[in-house]
Amino acid sequence: MSKAPVNVTVTGAAGQIGYALLFRIASGQLLGADTPVKLRLLEIPQAVKAAEGTAMELDDCAFPLLQGIDIFDDAGQAFAGANVALLVGARPRGPGMERGDLLEANGGIFKPQGEAINAGAADDIRVLVVGNPANTNALIAQSHAPDVPAERFTAMTRLDHNRALTQLAKKLGVSINDIKKLTIWGNHSATQYPDLFRAEVNGANAAAAVDDQKWLEDTFIPTVAKRGAAIIDARGASSAASAANAAVDHVHDWVNGTPEGDWTSAAIPSDGSYGVPEGLISSFPVVSRGGRWEIVQGLEIDEFSRGRIDASVQELVEERDTVRKLGLV
Ligand code: NAD
Ligand code: LMR
Repeated sequence: MSKAPVNVTVTGAAGQIGYALLFRIASGQLLGADTPVKLRLLEIPQAVKAAEGTAMELDDCAFPLLQGIDIFDDAGQAFAGANVALLVGARPRGPGMERGDLLEANGGIFKPQGEAINAGAADDIRVLVVGNPANTNALIAQSHAPDVPAERFTAMTRLDHNRALTQLAKKLGVSINDIKKLTIWGNHSATQYPDLFRAEVNGANAAAAVDDQKWLEDTFIPTVAKRGAAIIDARGASSAASAANAAVDHVHDWVNGTPEGDWTSAAIPSDGSYGVPEGLISSFPVVSRGGRWEIVQGLEIDEFSRGRIDASVQELVEERDTVRKLGLV
């Protein structure tokens, strides 16, 4: 018997990431080659026409797994029955905007979207927030969805993880497949900590294989942490295809599981592990088992890494305190 279609809601569907993402979802790469999907696209009214154009293109691909496309400018309708929600649409930072202004503007998007998810999404809803500032936007949405288990709200650091894999592979002249157990800790921002001290390259410790603390501190960490800004500088627009690819990786692994003997990175609600205050949506080393993310436990954290993790977590605490003061969480 063929599987029932999975409802996938994508916000910001007419944006750059949306354009790179929707075709991957419809082709089966998000959920698997045997899972039909129905797309539910959410846009602001001014961008609905552009979303309709993308929907025409999706139709023209004749994807065998795509069982329908609906376009909405109303969150309540867009999230009704959603099994997977990719929250991509967000308010970009404008000239002169401070962090607090950005968080407040995004509160106006992620609060009603959290409420709509609470009101109408399917019981198995899984949410990935891509729109920046992703971790705190996820926290805002989550706190307006009290009936949805908190663990279903996640934010994307898989792009940072993938960036770190490639930088390390290039440095050591190895394949991506040779690298395991890399971690992005903390916030999807310039304070994030890409951690090689627990990573392995062909079974050996990655930091020891690099054996170059200067490269690690002055090149590797800033290259990964500031890659988003470097791409904006080079392209004149933020990363889109690589962000869509990372979103596909995140949801695919969440639903289908991560491979034995490895882990990945995702920002998920903290249970207090590794000294990260409970409830913060922070990036951790994670595995997915039985459709749930689990934080990898028992890792020894060296002093250098401790300082870096704490700094990024502190930024998340400050973001949480700002949105608390604004009454958004
Ligand atoms: P974009 O400006 O091209 O598209 C955003 C779309 O969202 C627009 O079409 C806009 O109309 C729509 N939108 C705005 N408010 C909305 C709302 N309330 N409901 C539904 N749709 C809404 O931007 P993009 O390049 O696609 O990037 C989207 C977001 O992803 C940005 O916040 C960007 O900073 C972020 N991003 C995150 C990562 C990550 O790794 N977490 C990586 C790259 C980009
Ligand atoms: C990225 O990491 O590429 C983006 O988050 C950058 C951005 O600010 O949109």
